[in-house]
Amino acid sequence: MFSDKVTKVAIPVAGKGTRMRPLTKAVPKELIALGKKPVLEHILDECIESGLTDVLLITAEGKDAIRNHFGDEYNGAKISYTFQKEQSGLANAIYCAKDFAEGQPFAVALGDCFVESDGDRAFKRMIDEYAAYPADCMLMVEEKPREELGRFGVVKPKDGLGDPFEVDGLVEKPNPAEAPSPYIISGRYIFAPTIFDYIEKTPRGAGGEYQIADSMSLMMADGGRVWCTPLGDGDILKDVGTFESYFEAFAAEIEKYRNAK
Ligand code: UTP
Repeated sequence: MFSDKVTKVAIPVAGKGTRMRPLTKAVPKELIALGKKPVLEHILDECIESGLTDVLLITAEGKDAIRNHFGDEYNGAKISYTFQKEQSGLANAIYCAKDFAEGQPFAVALGDCFVESDGDRAFKRMIDEYAAYPADCMLMVEEKPREELGRFGVVKPKDGLGDPFEVDGLVEKPNPAEAPSPYIISGRYIFAPTIFDYIEKTPRGAGGEYQIADSMSLMMADGGRVWCTPLGDGDILKDVGTFESYFEAFAAEIEKYRNAK
């Protein structure tokens, strides 16, 4: 609560990337090319420009290419590594950051998406808001057309919208007509270290995996406060989790390259 600026970020990169097969059979999803750089470089650029310079990569067996690519330093950021033994879901991956967090708030950036912004990075705004609000957890959220909401985790605003706004519930894959807002969780989190207690209490959920949304729901049920930073008009989320979103992101890189010539 009302903490100092967060400088640590854990990036889970241990997933199997099954939706991106066969591309990700030997090459980790987080290293596939987006323009001239692998996706994970775009993510690290976003983190560094947001003031997150102490990085933990949560990796897995068979993904040595990630460490070979980055070593222990990237553009001034310090990089360390840990292993997720069994790829059993995001909550379990985030739990691997317990020692790294050292009892302090820390950020999490998913390893297959990033946000580009006009001006200050949205992730930086989120970190600033976390420092100013009594939040146990801060989420980056993106507005989506109602018909698409059934595929995502949707937040339930407590008192109304704003920048930031507080939520008192999360609904996974709602019926679009009944979704409590048009805002979905979009790959960036800040957690108070109490999240680790709730991850320990989280049973396996959807898909037999440990879901971080379930851990956050336990946190809220105990009175934990969750706030959201909404992406604005100047922010664009790029996601390489599926071929469709990957191709869209790559097409935008080609456009940027042409315009820069
Ligand atoms: P996804 O939910 O997209 O899972 O992970 P995935 O395994 O990478 O991909 P699919 O669903 O099989 O196609 C989002 C981020 O969380 C990491 C992934 O590496 C990715 O960067 N992750 C996911 C882990 O580190 N561990 C896990 O157990 C699950």
